[in-house]
Amino acid sequence: MSPSDKSAALPYQDLFRQFADKTEQGILVVGSRRIVLACNPAAKSLLSPEEDVPSSLNRVVRDIDVAFAVGDAFHDRRVVQYESYAPHPDRLLRYTMIPVIAATGEPSYVVVTIDDVTRLRHLETVRRDFVANVSHELRTPITSINLLVETLQTGAMRDAGVASHFLQRIEVETLSMMRLVEVLLELSRLESGRLALQLDATDVGEVFGAVSNRLDPAAKDKGLHVRLVIDPGLPPVQADSERLEQVLMNLVHNAIKFTPEGGEVTLRAARQGRSVVLEIVDTGVGMDPHEAARIFERFYKVDKGRNRAEGTGLGLAVARHLVELHGSRLTVVSEPGRGARFSFALPLMQ
Ligand SMILES: Nc1ncnc2c1ncn2[C@@H]1O[C@H](COP(=O)(O)OP(=O)(O)OP(=O)(O)O)[C@@H](O)[C@H]1O
Ligand SMILES: [Mg+2]
Repeated sequence: MSPSDKSAALPYQDLFRQFADKTEQGILVVGSRRIVLACNPAAKSLLSPEEDVPSSLNRVVRDIDVAFAVGDAFHDRRVVQYESYAPHPDRLLRYTMIPVIAATGEPSYVVVTIDDVTRLRHLETVRRDFVANVSHELRTPITSINLLVETLQTGAMRDAGVASHFLQRIEVETLSMMRLVEVLLELSRLESGRLALQLDATDVGEVFGAVSNRLDPAAKDKGLHVRLVIDPGLPPVQADSERLEQVLMNLVHNAIKFTPEGGEVTLRAARQGRSVVLEIVDTGVGMDPHEAARIFERFYKVDKGRNRAEGTGLGLAVARHLVELHGSRLTVVSEPGRGARFSFALPLMQ
């Protein structure tokens, strides 16, 4: 080895130590009899070991299966992967055991790398649920259309009255699929930040009026009383009036849907400092706190068994995103049987 080769080789250990000290990946070096010889800072923070190294592997990771996996890597001379919720039940760690073979051909160490894959796993679950939900929502109308077409083909076509009724039903199912796809596209635009607001001076009273006019027939059908309570002389807010109307349509539509006959839905707007607080309050079925924490998730619906109301569970996800685009936050307060109160604030126009 020439002197220059030597000087190039020497810093290697030092390089590795610097890397191990700074990387977010946990690294353990395990020697024979499963003694941990080195533990980098990331591994310490992921595992909170009971004692300093050198120490037995069981005391460092506190999961006997990790020790078995390290044994497998030693004996089989292969890379072994293992995932575990130990030692923190709310964190999923992925352990990768890499045998390091000495010049003699014998494995002398196992290097264990540790990655926190909690978020990754959560995202995988969200994606899987999303695909399952979309497929489920599309399956119902597709099955209906399929059945209607089959019935038409096997004779119903000859009866003009029946045929026209079936075609109407096919149209309804097709429209419901188109609506679903539109909402999904809108959510994806919102989530990727591709939707821009048209912020302008907006009169909340006017938007309330438009929403209540549009939903009045639905409220009357259910014998519900819709009240508008607006502070007199309320100044305009800074908002995208079309998007604000969309948010309120979602909230008021829900309020009507989840309030039994004879109840009341109130749209309230009141000034609070430099902003206006908007509230949609109903006297309906309400929900408990753990449900309230989840209703803004895509496709989440409070399951009321056979009384399950119509809808896909996307309205509030869209509403929440739109309110957030306005720099605000949509929240709910509710109790089972005691109605729900949705609210958010918008800044006054400068
Ligand atoms: N005012 C309310 N009172 C009681 N429960 C509500 C209220 N608003 C929403 N929820 C619950 O939250 C769930 C999600 O609401 P969201 O508006 O996202 O979906 P949806 O109304 O079921 O369907 P979509 O709005 O997509 O047609 C509802 O299914 C319902 O269980
Ligand atoms: Mg809804």
